Amino acid sequence: MSKRSIAGQTALVTGAAKRIGRAICLALAGEGVNIVVHYRRSESEAAELLDELTSEGVSAWAVRADFEKPDEYETLIQRAIDAAGSLDILVNNASIFPPDTLDNVTFDSLKTNIEVNAWVPFVLSRDFAKLAGKGKIINLIDSRVTDADWNHVGYILSKHVLAALTDMTAIAYAPDIAVNAIAPGLILPPPGKDQSYIERLADTVPLKRHGDPRDIAEAAVFLAKSKFLTGEVIYVDGGRHLKEYRNG
Ligand SMILES: NC(=O)c1ccc[n+]([C@@H]2O[C@H](COP(=O)([O-])OP(=O)(O)OC[C@H]3O[C@@H](n4cnc5c(N)ncnc54)[C@H](OP(=O)(O)O)[C@@H]3O)[C@@H](O)[C@H]2O)c1
Repeated sequence: MSKRSIAGQTALVTGAAKRIGRAICLALAGEGVNIVVHYRRSESEAAELLDELTSEGVSAWAVRADFEKPDEYETLIQRAIDAAGSLDILVNNASIFPPDTLDNVTFDSLKTNIEVNAWVPFVLSRDFAKLAGKGKIINLIDSRVTDADWNHVGYILSKHVLAALTDMTAIAYAPDIAVNAIAPGLILPPPGKDQSYIERLADTVPLKRHGDPRDIAEAAVFLAKSKFLTGEVIYVDGGRHLKEYRNG
């Protein structure tokens, strides 16, 4: 086993059944990591992913929780440990992305964004620190934390909170736990938009292309393996965070 091997470790990935979460699970499994697949509504996709993961030769389990229901998310880390026996890596990937603007954002919608996208990742991180005691936490934020998303105001504010929590928990949980973030740029079209949406926006990216879920998954594997990084943000966005842009 090489010095950097994470084979035999176990990761909990939230919102794992589809899209970027699924790619992260498959990449970690490719490194020999056992996976706890968290899902909320995507039960059949989670079941299909379990089959795919076990055919990769790792163990895999599914756990359900709605991140708007405290009794479900406050027990999630314990239930994941009960299923898998232990946890070494937590990937806070699940998120909501509702449209709103400065003109119409409501406090209720802001609260829901903060709960699902920042509060729950923090609760899971705190429980991971208490119950797992050591390992790696990887938070999925958004490259627009360096600028703004004028069409998803509650969402981007919640990602700012998660970015701040990444720094605070990196300090609070050191030296046993490293906490880092990945800030994706244009990777997949949001629900309701097709591929042409990100093809069109790709021209605004310095590298003139959009990314792929595997680009995010590679960064997650890198962070899971790293031994000397904490409180770091990796922008996987073709350089988009370096530009000022206002079209969300
Ligand atoms: N896609 C991009 O280009 C992009 C760009 C910037 C940042 N990001 C960030 O990267 C991460 C992954 O992006 P994505 O587009 O793959 O995410 P996504 O498809 O929008 O959401 C991932 C999963 O989150 C889960 N989820 C939503 N609401 C939930 C709730 N109330 N309780 C529990 N789970 C809930 C859903 O699980 P179920 O399906 O099981 O209900 C969903 O499949 C997110 O944190 C996102 O903000 C993505």
